Amino acid sequence: MLQVSNHIKKCFLLLGLLNVIYFTVYLLKSQTGSWDGLINTEPENLNVDLEQQTDPQHDGHDYGQEIQKLLDEVAENKDNKHWLHNTQLIHTSIDINPQDFFNDTTSKSAWRNKNTLFFDPRVTLALYLNHIRHQFELPESNQNQILVPFAWSDWIDLTGLNADLEKPLDQRNNCKWVREFSIIESSVPDEVLQCCDNKDITPRMLEQFGFQRHEQLPGFITYGHSVKRAFQKVRLAQAKSYALTHMPNPYLILFLNKDGGTYEVLVDGNEETNGRIVNTGMMNEFVHRNLPKDSKTVPDKWTFDPVTEFKALKKAVKPHILAPEDDVLGMYKTTHKKGTSKALPLPAEAFDYTAANLSRQRILLQRLAGQKDLTKREEIYLESIQESMNHHTFNEWPYFRQATLEFRNDPGNRDGDRGWHYDWRFFNGGLTYQEEGWTPQERTTRTTIILHRLLRNWFRFAEEKGIVTWIMHGPLLSWYWNGFMFPFDNDIDIQMPVLELVRLGEKHNQTLVIEDIEEGFGKYLIDVGTFIHNRDISRRENHIDARFIDVDTGIYIDITGLSSSKAEVPEEYYQLGMFEKDLNELIYNDRRKHFYTLDQLSPLRFTQMSGVPLYVPNQISERLTFEYINGMVSTEFKDWHFVPKLNLWVSADDVKAAFDANDYKVGGSVVALRTRLTNLVLEMSDEEVYMLLKHNEAILSEYYATRNLTSMHAEEKKFLFEEADPNEPRNFKRPLAVIDKTMKEEEKKKYIEFVNKNMKMTLPLRKPLFQYEHEEQPQHHHEYIDNN
Ligand SMILES: *[C@@H]1O[C@H](CO)[C@@H](O)[C@H](O)[C@H]1NC(C)=O
Ligand SMILES: *[C@@H]1O[C@H](CO)[C@@H](O)[C@H](O)[C@H]1NC(C)=O
Ligand SMILES: *[C@@H]1O[C@H](CO)[C@@H](O)[C@H](O)[C@H]1NC(C)=O
Ligand SMILES: *[C@@H]1O[C@H](CO)[C@@H](O)[C@H](O)[C@H]1NC(C)=O
Repeated sequence: MLQVSNHIKKCFLLLGLLNVIYFTVYLLKSQTGSWDGLINTEPENLNVDLEQQTDPQHDGHDYGQEIQKLLDEVAENKDNKHWLHNTQLIHTSIDINPQDFFNDTTSKSAWRNKNTLFFDPRVTLALYLNHIRHQFELPESNQNQILVPFAWSDWIDLTGLNADLEKPLDQRNNCKWVREFSIIESSVPDEVLQCCDNKDITPRMLEQFGFQRHEQLPGFITYGHSVKRAFQKVRLAQAKSYALTHMPNPYLILFLNKDGGTYEVLVDGNEETNGRIVNTGMMNEFVHRNLPKDSKTVPDKWTFDPVTEFKALKKAVKPHILAPEDDVLGMYKTTHKKGTSKALPLPAEAFDYTAANLSRQRILLQRLAGQKDLTKREEIYLESIQESMNHHTFNEWPYFRQATLEFRNDPGNRDGDRGWHYDWRFFNGGLTYQEEGWTPQERTTRTTIILHRLLRNWFRFAEEKGIVTWIMHGPLLSWYWNGFMFPFDNDIDIQMPVLELVRLGEKHNQTLVIEDIEEGFGKYLIDVGTFIHNRDISRRENHIDARFIDVDTGIYIDITGLSSSKAEVPEEYYQLGMFEKDLNELIYNDRRKHFYTLDQLSPLRFTQMSGVPLYVPNQISERLTFEYINGMVSTEFKDWHFVPKLNLWVSADDVKAAFDANDYKVGGSVVALRTRLTNLVLEMSDEEVYMLLKHNEAILSEYYATRNLTSMHAEEKKFLFEEADPNEPRNFKRPLAVIDKTMKEEEKKKYIEFVNKNMKMTLPLRKPLFQYEHEEQPQHHHEYIDNN
C-alpha cells in the first residue's frame, strides 16, 4: 500500500553488515562452545537415583523418607498450595451480552460502535466452533471448502491499545512518539519507522480496516517492520497497530484434536471485507441459530464455552485424518503401529533439491494456472519459487523480522534483552521484562509454559500431518541431560529434510494451528520463508527457513531444512573428525553452517521431551561435543547448576540455600568459588536435597512434576549411551566422556519395548497460558510476596 523508500534499502544494507558481525559472533560461540572452560565431572556422578539411597543418615533421619513426605504433600495439595501443578483447563466459560457483538446495532455499548477493543479467546473460539459445526452440518456443504471470515483482533490480544483508544485523538501516541522512543538518527525520515499518523488515513483505508471513524484507530498506524531498535512500549504499540490494520490473514485455521485428526477451515480470502466478528454478523447468526424456538427476545446474558462447543463439534463431525499418500516418509504409520521399532530411516532423496526440481515445480504450477484459478496458497507458493529463482544469497531480502529492543536505557528491560527472540508482529512483551504485578519467578514460569506448549503443539501438528522433524542444537543438549528443556533457554530449534520443508511451505504455509481446545487456547502460525528454495549458506539473515510462532507471545520454534548444496564444508569439520577427508557420502547443510552426513541423522530415534514424543538424530555424543565442547559434562552453565539428585537445573541463587554459606562464599577467586559450589551440588547429601525442597516450593513443585519423566529418561540413557574408553582410537578429535552405544540384539529388543511403553504424549505438564496469565497468576501473586 505504501512505498518502500530508498532509505529503507539503505537500512537493509546496514542491517546486512550488522548481520555479518552477529554471524561471526554466533560462529565463535557455537564453535568454541559456550560451555568451554567449565568444570568437568565424571558422568557416573550423574543421575543418582534417589530411591536407591535409603540408608538412614548418621543423625538418625531418613531423608529419603522425609523427601517422600514432601512429595506426598504436593500430591495431596492441601489448601490448593500447589495450584501450579493442576494443568487442567478451568474457567472455560464467560458470560457476555451477545447484542454487544451484533453488526447492525446503534447501541453505544456495542463493540462495533466503541473506540476500544474487546478480546477474550473464549468468545472467539466458542463462536467460531459453533459456526464451523453448523457449516459442516449443512447438507450442501463441501467439507474441504468451509470458509470463515477472519480478523486478527479477534484472535490475539490487542487491548493493549485501549489505554490510548480511550483518549481524545490529539492526545494519542503518534509517529513523533514512535521516533522519540526508537533508536534513530534525526536525519532518517519517518518512512523508516513504517509509521503513518492517524490523520493521514483516508476514508477508503478506514473502511478497509473495518472501522467507521478515525477515533477507533490508534494515533499511528504501523504498516510494516521498523528496523530500528525501540523501547518495549513502542514495539508493543507497533505490533498491535500493525495487527489491527495491515497484518495479512492466515490462509487456513486448523484445530488440533488430542484424540487424533484435525478440523480445518479456509479463511475467506476476500481482503476487502474486514472480518471482525462485529462486522460479519457472526453473532447475529449465532443467536438466530441457538435461540430457543419459543423465545421472542434476545437475552442480555449468554454463556460462551469453547470446550462445550469443541466437544459438540467432535461428536457431530469426524476429524480429518492423514491420507496414506500424504504420509510421505511413513512417519504416521510408524508411530501408530504398536510394538515395533519406532526408529525412522530417512531416504537420501528427502535431502535432494536441485535447480531441476525447482523449475519442474514451476512449470507444473504454471500449467495448472492455465487450467484453473490457483488457490491463494498455490499462488503464493508459485511466487516463492519465482522469487527464489530471481534472487540469490546476496540479494534475497531478510524474511523473518524481530522486535529488536532498546536494551540500555529502557529501565524495565532489566536483562538487556535485545529482542532477537520475538517475531515483531506478535511481540507481547519481553520474557524477563519487569512487569508490575509479576515477580521474576513468575516470569520464568510464564516462559516455561510458552515453550512447553510450543513444543507440544508443534509435534502434535507434525505427527498429524506426517511431517518429519527432530530437535537439534540447544534442545538436543537439554534433552540429553534430563529429557526437559533448559529453564534458561528461550527458543527451540528443529530440523527437517528439505523435502519436508518444501511440503510444509506448499501445504501448510500460513496455517493458524489451534491447540486442542480441551487443553488450552494456544494459537500458532506456520510461516515459511519465501527463499526456502535457495539452499546455500544465507548472507541475508535467512538462516532460518520457517517458524512456528506462538501468536500470543511472538515466541517461536526455529525450523531449518537440510539439503545437499554447493556450500563448502568448513575445514573444522574435517579437522575435528566430524567428517572423513575422503568421504564418499553426501553432506547436507542448513543455511547457517551446520553440516551432516545421512548416517549422522538417520535413522531418527523416537524419544520424548517434557512428555512430548519426538525424534532425535541417530548420532548424538559427537555432534553435541562438536557444537558445545563441554556441553555434555559441565554441570554449571550461566549460573545454573544441574542437581543430579533432582535431575533438574536449579539457579545458583536457589541452590545455595541447601548449603552453609561459608562452604561456597569464603576464600578463593570467583572461579574457585564457583567450582566449589559446583562440587557441593554434585556431592549433595540427601539432607541437603531435603533442605532445598523444604524451603523452596517452586523447586519442590518442579521436582514433583518432572521426576517420573526424568528418571525414565535416565533409564533410556542407559540404552543409548555408554562411558567412553579414552584408549579406543576414534576419528572424532575431542575428548568424549560418553559415546553413543551400539546395542546388542537382546538389548535392542528391550529398548524397543521400552520405547513402546514409555514414549507417549502425557497430559500437559504446564498450565494453559491464557488461564495462567489472566486468572491464576494475578490471583496467586500475593502469596509469593508473603512467602518471601
Ligand atoms: C449483519 O449480519 C447479517 C447476518 O450475517 C447479515 O444478513 C446483514 O446483512 C448484516 N448487516 C449489516 C448491516 O452488515
Ligand atoms: C527432485 O528430482 C529428483 C529426480 O527427478 C526426484 O527423484 C526427487 O523426488 C525430486 N525432489 C523433489 C523435492 O521434488
Ligand atoms: C508463505 O507465505 C508468505 C505470506 O504470504 C509468503 O510471503 C511466503 O513466500 C510463503 N512461502 C512459501 C514457501 O510459499
Ligand atoms: C509418577 O508415577 C507414579 C507411579 O506410577 C504415579 O502414581 C504418579 O502419579 C506419577 N506422578 C506424576 C506427577 O505424574
